[in-house]
Amino acid sequence: MIEDLRRVYFTEKEIQTKVKEAAHWLDERFCGKNPLAIGVLKGSVMFFCDLVRAMQTPVQIDFMTASSYGASATSSGTPALAADLSASVEGRDVILAEDIVDSGNTLVAIRDFLTKRGAKSVTVVTLLEKPARRTVNVKPDYFCFEAEDEFIVGYGLDYNQQYRTLPYLAILKREVYEH
Ligand code: PRP
Repeated sequence: MIEDLRRVYFTEKEIQTKVKEAAHWLDERFCGKNPLAIGVLKGSVMFFCDLVRAMQTPVQIDFMTASSYGASATSSGTPALAADLSASVEGRDVILAEDIVDSGNTLVAIRDFLTKRGAKSVTVVTLLEKPARRTVNVKPDYFCFEAEDEFIVGYGLDYNQQYRTLPYLAILKREVYEH
Protein backbone atom coordinates (compact mmCIF):
# COMPACT_ATOMS: atom_id res chain seq x y z
CA MET A 1 0.00 0.00 0.00
CA ILE A 2 2.65 2.54 1.04
CA GLU A 3 4.55 1.71 -2.16
CA ASP A 4 1.55 2.98 -4.17
CA LEU A 5 2.01 6.49 -2.76
CA ARG A 6 4.17 9.09 -4.49
CA ARG A 7 4.43 11.31 -1.41
CA VAL A 8 2.61 12.56 1.66
CA TYR A 9 0.55 15.59 0.65
CA PHE A 10 -0.62 16.83 4.05
CA THR A 11 0.41 15.31 7.35
CA GLU A 12 -1.92 14.28 10.14
CA LYS A 13 -0.83 17.33 12.12
CA GLU A 14 -1.43 19.73 9.22
CA ILE A 15 -4.88 18.23 8.69
CA GLN A 16 -5.86 18.53 12.35
CA THR A 17 -4.77 22.17 12.44
CA LYS A 18 -6.92 22.96 9.39
CA VAL A 19 -9.88 21.01 10.76
CA LYS A 20 -9.77 23.04 13.99
CA GLU A 21 -9.74 26.26 11.94
CA ALA A 22 -12.76 25.03 9.98
CA ALA A 23 -14.57 24.17 13.23
CA HIS A 24 -13.83 27.65 14.57
CA TRP A 25 -15.16 29.21 11.35
CA LEU A 26 -18.37 27.20 11.73
CA ASP A 27 -18.69 28.09 15.43
CA GLU A 28 -18.59 31.78 14.56
CA ARG A 29 -21.41 31.33 12.06
CA PHE A 30 -23.64 28.94 13.95
CA CYS A 31 -23.28 30.04 17.58
CA GLY A 32 -26.76 30.08 19.14
CA LYS A 33 -28.30 28.28 16.17
CA ASN A 34 -29.27 24.65 15.91
CA PRO A 35 -27.48 23.37 12.80
CA LEU A 36 -27.71 19.92 11.28
CA ALA A 37 -24.31 18.64 10.12
CA ILE A 38 -24.49 16.19 7.22
CA GLY A 39 -21.52 14.06 6.20
CA VAL A 40 -21.32 12.76 2.64
CA LEU A 41 -20.26 9.14 2.80
CA LYS A 42 -17.97 7.56 2.45
CA GLY A 43 -15.15 9.96 1.69
CA SER A 44 -15.94 12.61 4.30
CA VAL A 45 -16.21 10.24 7.25
CA MET A 46 -12.84 11.04 8.89
CA PHE A 47 -13.10 14.77 8.21
CA PHE A 48 -16.70 14.88 9.40
CA CYS A 49 -16.03 13.13 12.71
CA ASP A 50 -13.02 15.31 13.50
CA LEU A 51 -14.85 18.47 12.42
CA VAL A 52 -17.98 18.07 14.53
CA ARG A 53 -15.91 17.02 17.56
CA ALA A 54 -13.77 20.14 17.21
CA MET A 55 -16.83 22.42 17.16
CA GLN A 56 -18.04 24.12 20.34
CA THR A 57 -21.54 24.58 18.92
CA PRO A 58 -23.77 21.58 19.58
CA VAL A 59 -24.86 20.03 16.28
CA GLN A 60 -27.05 17.14 15.27
CA ILE A 61 -25.48 14.78 12.77
CA ASP A 62 -26.76 12.82 9.80
CA PHE A 63 -25.34 11.19 6.70
CA MET A 64 -26.01 10.87 3.00
CA THR A 65 -24.30 8.63 0.51
CA ALA A 66 -23.10 9.89 -2.85
CA SER A 67 -21.03 7.93 -5.26
CA SER A 68 -19.88 8.93 -8.72
CA TYR A 69 -16.45 7.39 -9.14
CA GLY A 70 -17.03 3.66 -8.61
CA ALA A 71 -13.79 1.91 -9.52
CA SER A 72 -12.80 4.67 -11.93
CA ALA A 73 -10.34 7.54 -11.48
CA THR A 74 -12.70 10.04 -13.09
CA SER A 75 -16.21 11.14 -12.16
CA SER A 76 -19.17 9.60 -13.97
CA GLY A 77 -20.76 13.07 -13.84
CA THR A 78 -24.00 11.68 -12.46
CA PRO A 79 -23.60 10.96 -8.76
CA ALA A 80 -25.85 8.34 -7.28
CA LEU A 81 -27.52 9.80 -4.19
CA ALA A 82 -28.88 7.62 -1.48
CA ALA A 83 -30.88 9.88 0.79
CA ASP A 84 -30.20 8.10 4.01
CA LEU A 85 -31.15 11.12 6.11
CA SER A 86 -33.02 10.18 9.23
CA ALA A 87 -33.77 13.80 10.16
CA SER A 88 -35.94 16.23 8.22
CA VAL A 89 -33.98 19.13 6.76
CA GLU A 90 -37.00 21.37 6.38
CA GLY A 91 -36.28 24.78 7.87
CA ARG A 92 -32.84 23.66 9.07
CA ASP A 93 -29.47 25.35 8.74
CA VAL A 94 -27.43 22.54 7.19
CA ILE A 95 -23.65 22.17 7.36
CA LEU A 96 -22.63 19.88 4.52
CA ALA A 97 -19.21 18.28 4.95
CA GLU A 98 -17.40 16.91 1.90
CA ASP A 99 -13.92 15.44 1.57
CA ILE A 100 -13.34 16.92 -1.88
CA VAL A 101 -15.05 19.14 -4.41
CA ASP A 102 -13.70 18.06 -7.78
CA SER A 103 -15.98 18.38 -10.84
CA GLY A 104 -18.61 19.80 -8.48
CA ASN A 105 -21.34 17.45 -9.73
CA THR A 106 -21.84 15.77 -6.36
CA LEU A 107 -22.07 19.08 -4.54
CA VAL A 108 -24.65 20.45 -6.99
CA ALA A 109 -26.74 17.28 -6.75
CA ILE A 110 -26.72 17.22 -2.94
CA ARG A 111 -27.25 20.94 -2.53
CA ASP A 112 -30.23 20.84 -4.93
CA PHE A 113 -31.61 17.83 -3.09
CA LEU A 114 -31.38 19.59 0.29
CA THR A 115 -32.84 22.82 -1.08
CA LYS A 116 -35.80 20.95 -2.59
CA ARG A 117 -36.34 19.29 0.78
CA GLY A 118 -36.71 22.74 2.34
CA ALA A 119 -33.35 23.38 4.01
CA LYS A 120 -33.20 26.98 5.22
CA SER A 121 -29.50 27.26 4.36
CA VAL A 122 -26.74 24.94 3.14
CA THR A 123 -23.17 25.78 4.15
CA VAL A 124 -20.60 23.64 2.40
CA VAL A 125 -17.31 22.85 4.10
CA THR A 126 -14.80 20.68 2.30
CA LEU A 127 -11.44 19.29 3.25
CA LEU A 128 -10.04 19.62 -0.28
CA GLU A 129 -10.99 22.06 -3.01
CA LYS A 130 -9.82 21.27 -6.54
CA PRO A 131 -10.98 24.21 -8.68
CA ALA A 132 -8.89 23.16 -11.70
CA ARG A 133 -11.28 20.25 -12.28
CA ARG A 134 -14.57 22.11 -11.90
CA THR A 135 -17.11 21.50 -14.68
CA VAL A 136 -20.11 23.17 -13.03
CA ASN A 137 -20.44 26.60 -11.48
CA VAL A 138 -20.25 25.82 -7.78
CA LYS A 139 -17.91 26.69 -4.92
CA PRO A 140 -17.65 25.47 -1.34
CA ASP A 141 -18.21 28.09 1.35
CA TYR A 142 -15.05 26.97 3.15
CA PHE A 143 -12.15 24.70 2.26
CA CYS A 144 -9.21 23.47 4.32
CA PHE A 145 -6.76 22.90 1.48
CA GLU A 146 -6.67 23.83 -2.19
CA ALA A 147 -5.41 20.76 -3.99
CA GLU A 148 -3.36 20.34 -7.14
CA ASP A 149 -4.74 18.23 -9.94
CA GLU A 150 -3.33 15.00 -8.52
CA PHE A 151 -5.05 11.85 -7.33
CA ILE A 152 -5.23 12.22 -3.57
CA VAL A 153 -6.00 9.42 -1.13
CA GLY A 154 -6.09 8.90 2.62
CA TYR A 155 -8.07 10.37 5.53
CA GLY A 156 -11.28 9.01 4.01
CA LEU A 157 -10.41 9.44 0.34
CA ASP A 158 -10.05 6.30 -1.72
CA TYR A 159 -9.04 4.83 -4.99
CA ASN A 160 -11.11 1.73 -5.67
CA GLN A 161 -12.09 1.61 -1.96
CA GLN A 162 -8.49 1.47 -0.78
CA TYR A 163 -6.32 3.86 1.27
CA ARG A 164 -9.24 5.45 3.20
CA THR A 165 -7.79 4.59 6.61
CA LEU A 166 -4.45 6.36 6.16
CA PRO A 167 -4.35 9.14 8.80
CA TYR A 168 -2.72 11.57 6.32
CA LEU A 169 -3.36 12.69 2.74
CA ALA A 170 -1.07 11.36 0.03
CA ILE A 171 -0.62 11.58 -3.73
CA LEU A 172 -1.17 8.27 -5.48
CA LYS A 173 1.36 7.16 -8.07
CA ARG A 174 -0.01 7.53 -11.58
CA GLU A 175 0.76 3.95 -12.54
CA VAL A 176 -1.67 2.74 -9.86
CA TYR A 177 -4.69 4.30 -11.59
CA GLU A 178 -3.50 4.71 -15.20
CA HIS A 179 -3.59 1.37 -16.98
C1 PRP B 1 -16.09 11.58 -4.08
C2 PRP B 1 -16.04 12.60 -2.95
C3 PRP B 1 -17.11 13.58 -3.31
C4 PRP B 1 -17.14 13.52 -4.82
C5 PRP B 1 -16.46 14.71 -5.41
O1 PRP B 1 -17.04 10.63 -3.79
O2 PRP B 1 -16.28 11.99 -1.71
O3 PRP B 1 -18.35 13.23 -2.77
O4 PRP B 1 -16.46 12.33 -5.22
O5 PRP B 1 -16.36 14.61 -6.79
P1 PRP B 1 -17.12 15.57 -7.80
O6 PRP B 1 -16.94 16.97 -7.33
O7 PRP B 1 -16.41 15.31 -9.11
O8 PRP B 1 -18.55 15.16 -7.86
P2 PRP B 1 -17.08 9.19 -4.50
O9 PRP B 1 -18.09 9.22 -5.60
O10 PRP B 1 -15.70 8.78 -4.91
O11 PRP B 1 -17.63 8.28 -3.33
P3 PRP B 1 -16.96 8.04 -1.89
O12 PRP B 1 -17.17 9.29 -1.09
O13 PRP B 1 -17.71 6.88 -1.33
O14 PRP B 1 -15.49 7.75 -2.10
